[in-house]
Amino acid sequence: MCGIVGCILKNNEKAAPVLLDCIKKLEYRGYDSVGIATVSDKINIKKDAGQINKVNLELDLADMPGNYGIAHVRWATHGDPNKANSHPQVDNTGKIAVVHNGIIENYEVIKKELESQGHVFKSDTDTEVIPHLIEKYMDQGMDLEHALIETIGTIHGAYAIAVISLDEPNKILATRKDSPLIVGVGEDQYFVASDSPAILEYTRNIIYPERDEIVILEPEGVTIKDKQGNILEKEIEVIEWTPKMAQKEGYDYFMIKEINEQATAVKNTLTEKENIEKIVEDLDDINRICFVACGTSYHASLTGKYLIESLAGIPVDVILASEFKYSTNTLNEKTLVIFISQSGETADTLKALDIANKTSKTLGIVNVAGSSVTRRANYVIHTQAGPEIGVAATKTYLGQLTAIYMLAGLLAKNNTLMEELDRVPEFIEELLLDTNSIKEMATRYKDNNDFYFIGRGYSYPIALEGALKLKEITYIHAEGYAAGELKHGPLALIDIGVPVVVVLPPGEDHRKTMSNLEEVKSRGARVIAIGASDDAMLISKSDDAFTINPDVTDIISPLVYIIPLQMLAYYIAIERELDPDKPKNLAKCVTVE
Ligand code: AGP
Repeated sequence: MCGIVGCILKNNEKAAPVLLDCIKKLEYRGYDSVGIATVSDKINIKKDAGQINKVNLELDLADMPGNYGIAHVRWATHGDPNKANSHPQVDNTGKIAVVHNGIIENYEVIKKELESQGHVFKSDTDTEVIPHLIEKYMDQGMDLEHALIETIGTIHGAYAIAVISLDEPNKILATRKDSPLIVGVGEDQYFVASDSPAILEYTRNIIYPERDEIVILEPEGVTIKDKQGNILEKEIEVIEWTPKMAQKEGYDYFMIKEINEQATAVKNTLTEKENIEKIVEDLDDINRICFVACGTSYHASLTGKYLIESLAGIPVDVILASEFKYSTNTLNEKTLVIFISQSGETADTLKALDIANKTSKTLGIVNVAGSSVTRRANYVIHTQAGPEIGVAATKTYLGQLTAIYMLAGLLAKNNTLMEELDRVPEFIEELLLDTNSIKEMATRYKDNNDFYFIGRGYSYPIALEGALKLKEITYIHAEGYAAGELKHGPLALIDIGVPVVVVLPPGEDHRKTMSNLEEVKSRGARVIAIGASDDAMLISKSDDAFTINPDVTDIISPLVYIIPLQMLAYYIAIERELDPDKPKNLAKCVTVE
């Protein structure tokens, strides 16, 4: 949800090409507009609505003088995606420029007051109040640092801000509250950014500033202070991700690259076993678990409920993070609240985590090291999926499931599950060897307007996730249902030719779901079945089938059966000439409530 970057280089190197390169890596956070500001004898700004490649063709964003500057990609909240609303936003004089990720909740009141004092606003954004406030405080005699401190004392809401001022050259100031910000400490080059993939090419040495700390980038180095002006000693952490991991490496899109990395994501996450063993040992007195998450992470949580309740006998609730605050009365110190988030920065999830921390033990299952969830939860399991750039979560979902399976297996002391889990990478690799049938299916189903996905038990969350992937990147209406629920309403929607994807691994419920398949088929549905390769009945009854190694049991099926559904969504998006990495209206990291 918006991405910001700031960089300052020594030796008079041009910052604009570096800023452009960095901001491109954050395009997954927003693609409504892009802008860069650099400083020479004046503040130079190039910005416009549209994706980076388009704007760059028109404006040649790298061609700007100055050895430091700031950049932004926007996911619009306040104001249409047009040039005026693009960042950087400036003050009256054009001497102060700001990029911002977040929402200023009291901007209307501030704007009115500033207007009455003669400030002229040129955009509909909430952000524009920031440069004007800084201008106001500098006019009162404050330096940039104090004007920024005063400004963050005036605004309410969430922010990661980077600011430059012509009056204080060779300096970038930045700060954050409830929106992510990292500091990169390179050799003769210093950065701030919303997320580490932006700067991996330049440095892997990262500092994580806390709320309202003031970051000062200068050609000589980085200083971080508290609001009282005390210099803070911050630890520099070396991030394990490499620049290569955040590149397409020959694939057309990140999403297909990331789908193909899922066996590795599972393998790498299995290395978290020792960490999980320690957590489980420590949590021997819990009597209830609550999963809290959004979107795909919520679907992973649902699988966790089925697993933990059936194997470990611990009652489990699964709550959408945005609804969590309505369900907190029954939490206590024996409840473990598990927060699942690939980004670790989802605003709804963080709000819920802060609430849960007051009463209960909290555990984060997170892909991005150093993210806010990892710093606020009592315990952390890192999914080792590597950087995920495609907006649609794929390999991080597999990482989350792997972590949940290990947690369930260890809570239940179930060695068989742990052994089955070890075989999952091999099943995934085998599946990915031949996916041509999915590609062909995509050509046949690309023009359908509605899709239904059904599954029972462990396959129900797969159906939900398959539907989410399809609607997210192809804009086709898709719904996932528990197979048994069809007859309670949704069956009325089934008509001649409507595609119904039936997730049907082998197992004790096979016969029942097969009956549901028959029910939709007899009403004219076109059935796409995902099942075992030795399931002759399934193959004969479906219009299209994608088959999987029969050794993949019902219990581990979520880790494997989701992959053809991810691919179906991907290839339909390609057939519809859509960019699966950048679905409209969405962003990778949802930092607003
Ligand atoms: C998944 O494809 C979506 N992009 C979205 O639903 C996502 O899972 C959700 O926003 C939660 O994000 P998080 O895991 O980073 O918290």
